[in-house]
Amino acid sequence: MSFSSMLGFLFRSASTSVVLDLVDSGLPSVTHWGADIGPLDPSTLRALVVGGVETPGNSAVDQAVRVSLLPEAANGWLGKPGLSGSHAGKNWSPQWSVFDIQFNGSPIAVPEGSATSPTVEVHTAEAGTLTASARDALGVLELVLVVEVSVEGVIRTRALLRNLSSDPYQLEELTVSYPIPSAAGEVLDFAGRWAHERTPQRRPITVGTHRREGRTGRTGLGAATLLIAGEPHFGFRTGETWSLHTAWSGNHIHQVEKVFSGVQLLSGGELLLPGEINLAQGETYESPWVYGVYGAGLDDAANRLHRDLRSRPQHPKSDRPMTLNVWEAVYFAHDLATLTELADVAATIGIERFVLDDGWFGSRRDDTSGLGDWVVSPEVWPTGLTPLISHVKSLGMKFGLWFEPEMVNLDSDLARSHPEWIMATGAQLPPESRHQQVLNIGIPECYAYIRDAMCAVLDAHDVDYIKWDHNRDLVDAGTLPTGTPGVHEQTEAYYRLLQELKERYPGLEIESCASGGGRVDLGAIQLTDRVWGSDNSDPIDRQSINRWTTQLLPPELIGAHIASKTNHITGRSHSLAFRAITALFNHLGVEWDLR
Ligand code: DGJ
Repeated sequence: MSFSSMLGFLFRSASTSVVLDLVDSGLPSVTHWGADIGPLDPSTLRALVVGGVETPGNSAVDQAVRVSLLPEAANGWLGKPGLSGSHAGKNWSPQWSVFDIQFNGSPIAVPEGSATSPTVEVHTAEAGTLTASARDALGVLELVLVVEVSVEGVIRTRALLRNLSSDPYQLEELTVSYPIPSAAGEVLDFAGRWAHERTPQRRPITVGTHRREGRTGRTGLGAATLLIAGEPHFGFRTGETWSLHTAWSGNHIHQVEKVFSGVQLLSGGELLLPGEINLAQGETYESPWVYGVYGAGLDDAANRLHRDLRSRPQHPKSDRPMTLNVWEAVYFAHDLATLTELADVAATIGIERFVLDDGWFGSRRDDTSGLGDWVVSPEVWPTGLTPLISHVKSLGMKFGLWFEPEMVNLDSDLARSHPEWIMATGAQLPPESRHQQVLNIGIPECYAYIRDAMCAVLDAHDVDYIKWDHNRDLVDAGTLPTGTPGVHEQTEAYYRLLQELKERYPGLEIESCASGGGRVDLGAIQLTDRVWGSDNSDPIDRQSINRWTTQLLPPELIGAHIASKTNHITGRSHSLAFRAITALFNHLGVEWDLR
């Protein structure tokens, strides 16, 4: 492999090393991601890079094929390229040239060298950021790759793609890739459905692609959650593992690909619908963060993620309040006297947060009606919510309130007055799910309406906590009147709304719930404080759901509740001890008519 200059960046801490390198003006590649390799000198870097590329063989391109964070067909990579898109069929295989490199905020000059006398330079840090900006050979596209490595050795990368041409650029897919060593022979990921989230599945890695597509418009009850490659038979405390997570709450991809030469990559990114991203001149697409976590076994990988999340400034610092969620106590049967009595009993057993669930607004007396009408129902709350909230506060508890901001029942004032805000591809509405349709908060007027309706409730009441629900998959989720795909916009709007509420109400905590544990991802958790693990609180099932959810999130961010003796989903009966010990290992709560 011949080259003129090579730059290496070693991030070394917590018994791991990550080495990124740039050869000549090529995009950065991951040369090493795994156990600590010690200090790195230029000759070792050179040996690692040169030894890490395939040797050109018969019936193959004559140059060494380097696989970058965004694998490029133009370099001879014959697996799935990192970027797919074009200007109406042109510029579909860009040749990138890096023109700016920043390492922990300082510019790095590419060292002078020649093919006969190449220059190799190594920069080392415990943790930090490498940013590489590149332009394609025709000057029609610009790409910025931002790679962060934390003190826990957790990598995350995002790409920013800008169209410089006056022709629109149709982006089809952008995935970030991390190579994994040939020692990784198996992959574990997750499947699932309602009440059975994060069901593990495991298979050997063979030539071809194991691609998990999330097409539900939300993270999903059956989301892959993590793709964990590892040495055969890896376990909680055995075998090396390399995990990938796409931090995105809309349509997304987790993939492992092995090409016939043996090279294997973990890749992640957003799944885009046809024509969903069309970049006009000067417009930029920002990919989700794609995480990579090395671990000496599953527990080590989980611990690194947990410590990484705990180091965030927004990570909940206070002891997690023991929560009573009233859903399984009263369902839709809201009544001040009943709920006041429930609050009284709750306070006597040490409940610290009282959450009023679905049913307090509009005509929402069951799940067929009222969704979208965020006004306190005079029918069930003739004196408003304040008497209950004041009572809860007088007992020393915090108060939480349920919302499902991105949804609407057709039988609602909102749907009647704004049918054009329902997501659909044309005149025919998508099939209903739980009697509801998706409200298109990607439409600015609709977004403003929902935000203002929520703020009106939050301004008028002393609310410490929102349980934010999302109870259906997105099907045929287009923006009317054209019907063009709207999932990307919807996901961006969801994050924007969370952000706006967090800024406007300092200290407000938000729970991420979607038909149970359908919104568990590192995109949502940056703006929320807890996930609801599952609607299934039967401890036999919940032991497994909790265990696998902690592969991504620390236990204090996962809500788990002690429910009634006979479980409302499975019908099985369990002792209080078994129900309680199961919930205690996470953010403890109660979901039960304590009266
Ligand atoms: C689904 C949630 O997972 C439940 O906890 C409850 O909030 C219901 N929605 C309310 O409709």
